[in-house]
Amino acid sequence: MGNNLLQGKKGIIFGALDDQSIAWKVAERCVEEGAEIVLTNAPVALRFGGIHELGEKLNAKVIAADATSNEDLENLMDQSMETFGGKMDFILHSIGMSLNVRKKREYNDINYDWMHKTFDISAMSFHRVMQMAMKKDAMNEWGSILALTYIAAQRVFPDYNEMAESKSLLESFARSFGYHWAKAKKVRVNTISQSPTMTTAGSGVKGFEEFFSYSDKMSPLGNASAGACADYCVSLFSDLTRYVTMQNLYHDGGFSNMGMAPEILNLK
Ligand SMILES: NC(=O)c1ccc[n+]([C@@H]2O[C@H](COP(=O)([O-])OP(=O)(O)OC[C@H]3O[C@@H](n4cnc5c(N)ncnc54)[C@H](O)[C@@H]3O)[C@@H](O)[C@H]2O)c1
Repeated sequence: MGNNLLQGKKGIIFGALDDQSIAWKVAERCVEEGAEIVLTNAPVALRFGGIHELGEKLNAKVIAADATSNEDLENLMDQSMETFGGKMDFILHSIGMSLNVRKKREYNDINYDWMHKTFDISAMSFHRVMQMAMKKDAMNEWGSILALTYIAAQRVFPDYNEMAESKSLLESFARSFGYHWAKAKKVRVNTISQSPTMTTAGSGVKGFEEFFSYSDKMSPLGNASAGACADYCVSLFSDLTRYVTMQNLYHDGGFSNMGMAPEILNLK
């Protein structure tokens, strides 16, 4: 049951592929809190994923957009504003894909064409979305823009491969563009650094199940679920967090501040 935290607000949600996706849960929670949303994903994801089913359930328009294409993003902004009958209040960037991880190339044997593509999809797309929204004057004042990231941007997780640098770049775009958005429209821009989560993108990482369990033990509160991440996104889209901007916010059950967990050494 919602608390009308997003009553009257409108926003675009990128990246709901199936019912495990973090963006799927965020979409459900935003609508539960009274928001009107547009769902978007890459054309191929629209063909194979379950997004149309979600769109029907939430009474949300589904618009295809490859987040690496300016043309697609321009069309997405235009169509979304037409659907909303005006500007929007929030955007969630929930996009990640690594070609080298997918094709099982190790970090010290990288294919650089794929690396470029990975950075384009997973990080530069965030800049593209924000730049297009600004050029189209698509955001209402005091709006909120969020992207999802992982702590491999700050610490070494060897099997996360080139996604580590993608996330560093993504977080840097949030800080830098956050300045420009704040000055232009009082819009805030943040990244949420989420616990490992069992999704299509997450489980693509080598040894993910073992790592998920390690992280769960390392975090005093345990891993944060996709549903809990959706709750956090709602709070950051709401008017209760208007002065939080240009931050990387850990949503990880305490993992990021741990040094040693007795649970892992079987001392507890
Ligand atoms: N699952 C985890 O363990 C975890 C942890 C921390 C952060 N994240 C981040 O959360 C976000 C969402 O991932 P998820 O775990 O829900 O997995 P997911 O696979 O459900 O979502 C990734 C989405 O990216 C979309 N995508 C890929 N290429 C695209 C393109 N060119 N244009 C538009 N969309 C494209 C996919 O279609 C998919 O919907 C990602 O940024 C991911 O890195 C995930």
